[in-house]
Amino acid sequence: MSYTSFVTVVGCGVSGLTSAIRLIEAGFSVEIVARELPPETTSNVAAALWFPFRAEPRDRVLAWSKATFDELVRQHQAGVPGVTMTTFIELYDHEAPRPFWETAVSTGVRRARTDELHPDYEMGWAADVPIVETPAYLPFLVERFSSLGGTILQREVQSLAELTAPDRIVVNCTGLGARDLLNDEEVFPIRGQVVRVTNPGIRRALTDDEGPRRIAYTIPRTDDIILGGVAVPNDWNRTPDPELSNEILRKCRELEPALADATVIETRVGLRPGRTTVRLERETFPDGATVIHNYGHGGAGFTLCWGCANDVVALFG
Ligand code: BEZ
Repeated sequence: MSYTSFVTVVGCGVSGLTSAIRLIEAGFSVEIVARELPPETTSNVAAALWFPFRAEPRDRVLAWSKATFDELVRQHQAGVPGVTMTTFIELYDHEAPRPFWETAVSTGVRRARTDELHPDYEMGWAADVPIVETPAYLPFLVERFSSLGGTILQREVQSLAELTAPDRIVVNCTGLGARDLLNDEEVFPIRGQVVRVTNPGIRRALTDDEGPRRIAYTIPRTDDIILGGVAVPNDWNRTPDPELSNEILRKCRELEPALADATVIETRVGLRPGRTTVRLERETFPDGATVIHNYGHGGAGFTLCWGCANDVVALFG
């Protein structure tokens, strides 16, 4: 590959921003081009607990998750806005094997204590993991990118050919948009809906992905708590369903009775960028243009972002 110092990153969600930051740190001149900017991206809706959710393949997801875990812990310790740590318990109504993501967690994974379990659950796996609070973290990423000299242009791209040039590499972080942009039929939406409520002081995160309330989760942030959820493949509906919100509230209040008097702040829908497997690879188009793809992260955009961004840079090698 011929050397170039100019890069256009398409997409301004967490994958685009982290890729752009790593590239500019590596010495490239980088611009971001995106149809939607924070706070209007899908990333803004994410509950953003570190948890490798609905992303494949496992071996690569594990490596990216580990790199991101370590980076987010480092950022938390450095006081980066919007990065907190919390105890997270994955609940099971049956004896479940140790989680596949255990080796990614430097802080260790343990069995939940009996006093941490709701009576409907037989066991749980617990770990201290990062939570990213998107309203603070995405502006931090934008500011970090801009302060390094990066530029951001809001513009809809119909074809990557609009951006490729002999002296320029394009990094494609378009998430669900990659389906139309590249006719990639492996990309599909996984509909999510969350209810944001006041936080009565809950500090732990719970998920039930396989048990009687599947799926349900409570993700505490500094000033609120995100309640979910749902993960419906191939559902493009972006309108919140009030009945589903009531169902989410009911299930989460059962899990965390302290939520009984929590007040609803808002309901949001996000279409997770699902794909059979994450696509992180270099492609050379017939006209010689080079594109590096980084999309298809499912419900794990924040869990994979820094690991994927490192690999994007490595593909420039
Ligand atoms: C979600 O995509 O809804 C999700 C991802 C990670 C943790 C919890 C929820």
